[in-house]
This record gives sequence, structure tokens and C-alpha cells, in this order.
Amino acid sequence: MIPPDTVALCDYERHFHARVDPAIAAYVAGAAADGHTQRDNRAAFARLRLLPRALADLSAPSARKMLFGEALAYPILIAPSAYHRLVHPEGELATVHAASLTRTWMTVSTQASVTLEEIARRATTPLWFQLYFQPRREHTLALVRRAEQAGYRALVVTLDATVSGVRNAEQRAGFRLPAGVSAVNLDGLPPLPAGDTRRGSPVFRDMLRDAPTWRDLDWLCGQTRLPVLVKGLLHPADVPLALDAGVAGIIVSNHGGRTLDTVPATIDALPAVVQAVAGAVPVLVDGGIRRGTDIVKAIALGASAVMVGQPILHALAVGGMPGVAHALTLLQTELEIAMALTGRVRLETLEPDVLMR
Ligand code: LAC
Repeated sequence: MIPPDTVALCDYERHFHARVDPAIAAYVAGAAADGHTQRDNRAAFARLRLLPRALADLSAPSARKMLFGEALAYPILIAPSAYHRLVHPEGELATVHAASLTRTWMTVSTQASVTLEEIARRATTPLWFQLYFQPRREHTLALVRRAEQAGYRALVVTLDATVSGVRNAEQRAGFRLPAGVSAVNLDGLPPLPAGDTRRGSPVFRDMLRDAPTWRDLDWLCGQTRLPVLVKGLLHPADVPLALDAGVAGIIVSNHGGRTLDTVPATIDALPAVVQAVAGAVPVLVDGGIRRGTDIVKAIALGASAVMVGQPILHALAVGGMPGVAHALTLLQTELEIAMALTGRVRLETLEPDVLMR
């Protein structure tokens, strides 16, 4: 049962930490190194101040967004995150049920703990598939073909985790995947190069051998008719490279602060990327979104939509499918309230002047 004092996403987070095994909680929280970026993701949203307009015309309100030819009821998607069965026995099947009930699009992780086909069978809402380049192109392509066949609407290629970050909290807590939870979509594929530390650091010795480059992204975009988005782009100088490769969208992300610590908060990195993209493709943002006001700020700074990751796992752990549906409904309601109270009840009216300079 969802505790009755659960009225905001931060309440799910509090209950999550009180209930979930500390090692699993440390993995889900997952801040890299000292957690500067993870904290900054949220602090940067909190620093921005809204400047409402009074007595604005609030008729015909709508938070609807057209994206890749389909109508998204709210500019909120579920970000990819691994292993939902770590926190709930039904895992991604519960998440996708909640996404469907709330008309939220869901991005399914390569490292989902349920097969991408089973998740798709349970969905009545559009799904995107998050892809990690595999060491061999034929294996990457096999995942792409499965996602296409199962009816996924887009691919999200993660660019910012060529190697795992320095996950000290997870290491201190001794996190290991429990028996019965695994990346089932990768069954039968060769494992990534192992980090054997007995002969010193394994990173340069083994782990970068098959690291992807822009050529691989170029190749991938030529292999599929699905829109390909890239996730984890922060530097505006990378925007023309991504556009040349043929991407259909860019997700400004720092992997929830889980990979390289001390990179900027995503909301601080967003404006320069939006400027470099210059309207060529939609730009999305994730990282630290916990409130409807955060979404208003992201849209005002040029995002087409936002993605939420960790809060979904908090809600799934605490309340199962109803918890996730409730958490998403809270965000939708808070967004409507924030739009009404800023006097901007259509997404296209959320412009930078809703923020105080
Ligand atoms: C993580 C990997 C799975 O952030 O993307 O844990």
C-alpha cells in the first residue's frame, strides 16, 4: 500500500530509502564518486526562479506535445533505467502498465530485467528502446531488429557510459545483482570486457577496445528507419557531429550523475545545446526532475520534453504499479498547476521570460 503521506516524488524517495535493501538502494541512487553532479542536477533547478504573468488567458489549456508525428499527452517520458526487478518482482511489466494507464511513453533499457518483447506486449503506450553499442556490430543490429519487430517507436543510444563511472557508494555497500535479476535482453551475447584489476587498472588495457565512435553512430542511423536519439550529450560542439550522423533527437543528460562526476547539471547545459541544435531536431533533458516547476523550467529553456528515471524506481519499490502511476500523475498535476500559476497554459508559451534573469 502507498503510505498516505506520499504526496510528492520526494516522499517516494524517502520511503524508498527506509524500505529497500541498502545495497540495492545504493545502486539505484548510484551517484558517481562524490555525487556533485547528482546533487547539482536538482540544485540547479531549485536555483532558477519563475516569474509569473498575472491574469493571463487560461482558456484552452493543454500540455500536449507532438513528437515524431505522435501526440504525447504530457511532455514527460520515462527515462531508461536498468533492472526494475531489483525493486519489484514484476519489474518493467509493472512500470509499463503504469506508463500505459497514465499515457506516458516509456524508454526500455538494454539492461531491462524483462525481455523487450514481453514489455512491448504489455504496452498500450509508445515505447522507445535504449541501446548500448555492443562490441560487435551484428549484436548491436540484432537488438535493433528485435526492437523494430516488437514495435518500438525510437532508439535512444546512450553515449556517456563507455565505461562505468566511479560508483563508490555502490562499492561501499557491496552491491551485487541478486540471483534471478539480470540483463535478459543480452542473454547469448558475449559479455563486455571484464575489469580484471589484478594487473593494475584495466581501463586502458582492456575496456576501451571496442569503444564506439561517431562512425558507429553514422552506421547505426543508416541501418534503421526508426528515429535515433542520442542521450548523454553535453558539449555543444558535439551537436553538429550528431546531426551529421543523422540523429532525430538529442537528450541532454549526465546519466543522472552516475557516470562522470562534476560535469554540469543538465538544466545548466541545456541552453547551449538548444542553441547549437537551432531547431533542427527536438532536444529532451533528464536529470533531477522531481517537480512540475522543473518541467516548466526545462520547456522554457528549449526542451521539447523531459525524462524521469530514478523517481520511477522509487515509486515502483514503494507502491508497485499503482505507485508508478501515482507518481506520474503527481508530476502531470504539478505541471498543470505550475503552468496555470505562471499564466502559461500552453507549452509554446513557456519561453525564457518565464524565468527571472
Ligand atoms: C547505470 C547503467 C546501467 O547507470 O546505465 O547503472
